[in-house]
Amino acid sequence: MNFLGKEVAYKWFTKEVRDDIITWQLENGRTLDDTVKAYCDIEKYGKAILESDLFAKGFEQSHHKVTTVGGHTLHVVFTALEAAYERQKREESVNIEYVVQACLLHDLGIIGRYEKYANNLICCFRHPVDSGKIINDLFPGTANEVTNAVERHMFPATIIPPTSVTGLILIKADKSASLKETSILRRKEVVLA
Ligand SMILES: [Fe+2]
Ligand SMILES: [Fe+2]
Repeated sequence: MNFLGKEVAYKWFTKEVRDDIITWQLENGRTLDDTVKAYCDIEKYGKAILESDLFAKGFEQSHHKVTTVGGHTLHVVFTALEAAYERQKREESVNIEYVVQACLLHDLGIIGRYEKYANNLICCFRHPVDSGKIINDLFPGTANEVTNAVERHMFPATIIPPTSVTGLILIKADKSASLKETSILRRKEVVLA
């Protein structure tokens, strides 16, 4: 699959996924050049995650009714990278590798939620911890800062805050992406009505 001049061969990378990324970026004021730059970092630091079977499985589970876990994860990582590049421009501390990995890994624990969790509330509290366990099992070399950010990404719903800039960027990007995804749903409902 060609993506802005790059050949991308992940099994989950369909035409729908490609078009969704481009639409997401343009709707959020990011150019195609911004998108290529971000994608290069995502691939550079997240290749092992992108190649994993579990990551691919995320594209089979719907999320916020308008996307999939995989699609949401891509929304989060592109959103987070814009914030991370802004910090870099201001010469503030940020680790792009950690930001990419934390975003790509943050919701792996939510895959299979309807079999694993009795209800949405349990899912809300448990999936960050389960994502952390998956990191330890599948990606054992992951930095502690990344795992910590993932395990605490539902703050303030879960009461313990993250301890790093990576964690704060992830939380903000996750909430922002979720809000936008659900607003797309509202828009669709209005059109349907
Ligand atoms: Fe989550
Ligand atoms: Fe999320």
